[in-house]
Amino acid sequence: MRTLPSRHNATCALPCATRRPYPRIVASPQTPVTSRTQVAIVGAGPAGLLLSHLLHLRGIESVVLEARSREYVEQRVRAGVLEQGTVDTLVSSGAGERLLREGLVHHGIELRFGGAGHRIAFEKLVPGRAITVYGQQEVVKDLIAARLAAGGDIRFEVSDVGLDGIDGERPAVSFWNKSGSAIIEADFIAGCDGFHGVCRDAIPPGVLRFFDKDYPFGWLGVLAAVEPSSEELIYASSDRGFALHSMRSPQVSRFYLQVAPDEDIAAWPDRRIWDELAARLETVPGWKLSTGPLIEKGVTAMRSFVTEPMQFGRLFLAGDAAHIVPPTGAKGLNLAAFDVTVLTEALAEWYASGDTALLDGYSRACLRRVWRVQHFSWWMTTLLHTFEHYDAYDRRLQESYLDYVCSSDAASTSLAENYVGLERAIR
Ligand code: FAD
Ligand code: DHB
Repeated sequence: MRTLPSRHNATCALPCATRRPYPRIVASPQTPVTSRTQVAIVGAGPAGLLLSHLLHLRGIESVVLEARSREYVEQRVRAGVLEQGTVDTLVSSGAGERLLREGLVHHGIELRFGGAGHRIAFEKLVPGRAITVYGQQEVVKDLIAARLAAGGDIRFEVSDVGLDGIDGERPAVSFWNKSGSAIIEADFIAGCDGFHGVCRDAIPPGVLRFFDKDYPFGWLGVLAAVEPSSEELIYASSDRGFALHSMRSPQVSRFYLQVAPDEDIAAWPDRRIWDELAARLETVPGWKLSTGPLIEKGVTAMRSFVTEPMQFGRLFLAGDAAHIVPPTGAKGLNLAAFDVTVLTEALAEWYASGDTALLDGYSRACLRRVWRVQHFSWWMTTLLHTFEHYDAYDRRLQESYLDYVCSSDAASTSLAENYVGLERAIR
């Protein structure tokens, strides 16, 4: 654990992209158009869109401000695994119709190591709970469609978002878009603008504590137009590094390879990617990887990061704006969904009765789950990846632990219940 005294001094230990000047409302030559809403939401990723949707169902009005275009956010390939609780939230809120039709419900995953595959059987270990494979960009499309169908206000391609008055009762967000400059006054601001957003930086220096960990590797992710070679996800640990076989549909597969954190994607022509995937995945006798055209590829660095608290005054942080996990446990999107579920309850209570108890407890309620998920994601990552500093002894320990996880019901139940998502206690 480390305490960073200020995000804005020269010794800030976070990556440069997170060091930004204190965002403030800047006087423009033109008079900004001022309007009002109840909750101003920065960011139209899963957190911001789901929050806007859930608030609408509670009769609470919001405006969502997004830096990118609608096309961009609807095409951005990222997560693919939804916990049971995330599916339940989307379905019960009326945004899960296509998810129920097209999502692939999985009742297990495979851990592959030491020349054999080991199934973690959810139906046996956590009866009644499963995961659904459904692309994050599909969730985003469904939520945008739901908001627009309900007359929701999402402003795409805004720039220079600045926050003001977050420690008072009249916080405001300023921004520019193609019509000029504007200010939205609100009762609350939700910072759902991801890890590189501006909201976290709007909190005065010294208020927040940051906890972070970088990993000495990244993931090279590809989407391929080829039928999945497995019915369930395969998490493969090999001496060459980690590989993950996932999917999006019966025609589209998704793969990840452990690579260097600063890996140059140009060094990975398609042939090399397929060869490396085959070398890490074809470790079980008779198992063959089907190949096909690659539709998309990119490298993501891996990091753990937590902000405490997740609130300052009338600004509430949710999702990646407040915390990041390495993707091995498939948790980031699910945690974002959990945060906004808690925030919706808290805001609904405040609007209904003026009671601030749930708002005051927002950070505490979220951080309890955040830290459970931090541990699980770190654990899955260290269990399955190879580390340069590992010697033969460390590798044997890792293999022994993998063997234990797959052969003990207690250990595999622990993995299974965390993977499908622990029950959601909000209060
Ligand atoms: P984001 O999705 O980052 O959305 C933030 C939004 O804010 C963006 O649209 C951004 O454009 C916008 N924004 C940023 N700055 C501003 C600004 N200044 N003004 C206005 N708008 C702004 N999670 C899982 O649960 N399961 C998985 O299987 C999984 N796999 C993953 C695989 C990979 C390769 C990666 C990279 C991530 C994965 N994740 C997974 C994590 C998941 O994608 C994120 O946790 C999730 O996107 C967080 O949602 P969010 O809405 O908090 O943030
Ligand atoms: C996917 C991503 C993950 O991070 C993961 O652990 C499993 C699947 C995916 O994109 O399909």
